[in-house]
Amino acid sequence: MKKICLYLISLLLSVNSLAQESYGDILISTPNTSLMVTGKQGEPLRFQYYGSRMSSTTDIRNSATALGCSAYPTFGIDCASEYAMQVCHADGDLSLDLYYVSHEQEEDADSRTWKFLLKDKIYPFEVKVCYKAYRTEDVIETWTEITHQEKKPVILYKFASAYFPVKSGNHWISHLHGSWAAESYLTEEQLTTGSKIIKNKDGVRNTQCDNPSFLLSIDGAAKEDYGHVIGGTLAWSGNYAIQFDIDYTRTTHVFAGINPDASFYKLAPKETLRTPELALTYSLEGKGGVSRNFHRWARKYKLAHGEQLRDILLNSWEGVYFDINQQGMTNMMKEFSDMGGELFVMDDGWFGNKYPRNNDTSSLGDWEVCHEKLPEGIEGLIADTCDNEIKFGIWIEPEMTNTVSELYEKHPDWIVCQKNRTPSTGRGGTQLVLDMSNPKVQDFVFGVVDNLMTRHPEIAYIKWDANMTLLNYGSHYLSADKQSHLYIDFHRGLTQVLKRIRQKYPDVVMQACASGGGRVTYGLLPYFDEFWTSDNTDALQRIYMQWGISNFFPAVAMASHVSAAPNHQTGRDIPLKFRFDVAMSGRLGMEIQPANLSNDEKDFAKKAIQIYKVIRPIIQQGDLYRLISPYEKRGVASLMYTSLNKEQAVFFVYKMEHFYGQAIPRFRMAGLQADAFYKLEEINQVKTNLWQHGQVISGKLLMEQGIDLPLHNEYASMVVKLTRVDK
Ligand code: GLA
Repeated sequence: MKKICLYLISLLLSVNSLAQESYGDILISTPNTSLMVTGKQGEPLRFQYYGSRMSSTTDIRNSATALGCSAYPTFGIDCASEYAMQVCHADGDLSLDLYYVSHEQEEDADSRTWKFLLKDKIYPFEVKVCYKAYRTEDVIETWTEITHQEKKPVILYKFASAYFPVKSGNHWISHLHGSWAAESYLTEEQLTTGSKIIKNKDGVRNTQCDNPSFLLSIDGAAKEDYGHVIGGTLAWSGNYAIQFDIDYTRTTHVFAGINPDASFYKLAPKETLRTPELALTYSLEGKGGVSRNFHRWARKYKLAHGEQLRDILLNSWEGVYFDINQQGMTNMMKEFSDMGGELFVMDDGWFGNKYPRNNDTSSLGDWEVCHEKLPEGIEGLIADTCDNEIKFGIWIEPEMTNTVSELYEKHPDWIVCQKNRTPSTGRGGTQLVLDMSNPKVQDFVFGVVDNLMTRHPEIAYIKWDANMTLLNYGSHYLSADKQSHLYIDFHRGLTQVLKRIRQKYPDVVMQACASGGGRVTYGLLPYFDEFWTSDNTDALQRIYMQWGISNFFPAVAMASHVSAAPNHQTGRDIPLKFRFDVAMSGRLGMEIQPANLSNDEKDFAKKAIQIYKVIRPIIQQGDLYRLISPYEKRGVASLMYTSLNKEQAVFFVYKMEHFYGQAIPRFRMAGLQADAFYKLEEINQVKTNLWQHGQVISGKLLMEQGIDLPLHNEYASMVVKLTRVDK
């Protein structure tokens, strides 16, 4: 009997696999998600499904939910629709008709990659549509590899990394939008017929105004803890375009890739263009589920040292701005070390001799220590950090120069500019961008880091800044027929340099900064440990920005610093506790002149730093649960982190508005184990206000009923540590 059953099962399975074979259906899966495409000889590769994990393709077919859309729509055969690719062949023909030919599969310990080879029916032009599924994380990356054997170059006018359709529903997108000092505000809107495009054209910093990341909620506005949500983030540091196009069938067609504007690409015969990956995730647990998927994947695969804890640092910028000198630095280090700090970073203003860097009008490119300001050199500073038992870090902006600099005097042709025009300048009225497409410039930029690191191997941290838009479109280096490659080749050059740096200096910690939060992107994070979230350090405004960023990027990478009161950007006067409570929800640091703190404030800071060291692993390596959004304007905002084993958690709440008679909502926690018990302790306070301080409460009650909190005063805030206890 048993034998017959087994036989029947195996027969069924073989029929199933035959059906799959004949349809050419392929299921690409992660632990909880699947994507299905169909590759059938002579037909376009078809995109069928993306959603929860499926065990069989027939299930998708039988339910008639298979979408059947071309997996990589091209222009010229179905001209009326939006497309992922448009080219001009060597003979001037503008059409492309891609058919599935074959596919190959590559495996490594972490992932499986499928590459589907599509060829044009007539021209020797081919595209590989690639999907990489992670084995332990719910992320699938998708990109293309484009090549041809035509007689002359083929011009690529549009060459998206990725395309996918989502069947009709009530589609909403959430994305990040803002400006300098107000980056990464979460914007949520319903998609209506027509196109919505998220884009960037800065050329250098691609996240100051918009970010190449989105959440696509399928059934109405995305909720934090439930609902079908697709998350996407493009791993590219240059210009991008992400288009959501809703057609008459109410299907949303999503296209993502390098922004093709002014970037048509001349692909030489046999050259391969690999487009940047779009990383996709899907969750039934709403926006929170998507964020946690991205965070885990990022910590493991897309962020330098993503699974290591970060030092607590003091950055000199808001403390002294350009006023760098040996004694000033020594004093800051000493005070910070006394507070328990771990790393001191000297920001802008330390370099230039012919033209000392006293303000932002000169010296970028002249990366020699200014002897007048720092007679003992960097050695002197490092000796000081050693005496104070902290590490040393330094600021650079190596992709840039100023008209007033020795570098520009020597190499006027190294800047990004047309050969026959006077360049428009940026910051300080004199700043210019170096041409990263030029290998000599790449060597120079590599050399900036290499020289510093060879001379001072003790340097533990580099803040890499980039403060200008690529204004003057033109390259002295690129040939006349390749001028349109500049936006792309700038970033390929930058990436090459970063790869070289990482090869030689795998351990140095690097921060991606670009006028604040201008480079919060997975295009760069594999080479950087963290990003500077914003030049705006106002704790109240940071809650909105950090909330936005947290949808896609993990706390371990989000630099969040306590700065002075009144705040230098907004003038707001916020209590030190609130400022610490906000900064502690990310990678804690300080951006302040410690000498200006009173003794009580120094004491408070010292204790806060001590406390952060205890909760740091939970915040930097745990799972994030956002509880009450500041964007909902309920007067408060709240979030928490739980350790991956749910043994510990840290809860944060901030009072965002202060009115008499204001109703404060109850705080329902999340991410705990329902049948476990947790001890609650208010931390980072002078005197506890928490009624439940020291009490043991079940995860079930904390998550279902929540707790009331006494947030009476303006800028009230609380941090509560939860520890699982046996009961
Ligand atoms: C940019 C950065 C700041 C600081 C200054 C220095 O604005 O975002 O943090 O480093 O440059 O000039």
